[in-house]
Amino acid sequence: GAPAEVNISKLEPGQKIDVEWRGKPVWVVKRTPEMVANLPKNDPKLVDPKSESSDQPSYCQNEGRSRKPDIWVAVGVCTHLGCSPTFRPELAPADLGPEWLGGFYCPCHGSKFDLAGRVFSGVPAPTNLVIPPHKFFGDADSMLL
Ligand code: FES
Repeated sequence: GAPAEVNISKLEPGQKIDVEWRGKPVWVVKRTPEMVANLPKNDPKLVDPKSESSDQPSYCQNEGRSRKPDIWVAVGVCTHLGCSPTFRPELAPADLGPEWLGGFYCPCHGSKFDLAGRVFSGVPAPTNLVIPPHKFFGDADSMLL
């Protein structure tokens, strides 16, 4: 189908928007500088911290799994059995524990992902969330899927 154009000019730091791409939910998150800085702290607890066994374009195989440090794009489908994980950007919520630095929680079987969509060890999801091909244009006010 035709590429989807997404206007991201009004996306605030810490905010997530949902768009549809080829019948799939796609998330666009604008991470705060603190969120970006916290990502490496999760590495020891992740299944695939360098995304070597996960699905993303080559230009997103980096710490933030993104083309730009702040804007992060992912297919919003759990890599276990396809439920939709919940956005949990807050630090250390009671239900996710004191070490939680923000991420996504899948309500179906408890898989946890960080704010780069990288899966934590000890949950059913086997790989990181999928990153779809995308690019920015117009001084990054818009994005094409
Ligand atoms: Fe997400 Fe099973 S579908 S944990």
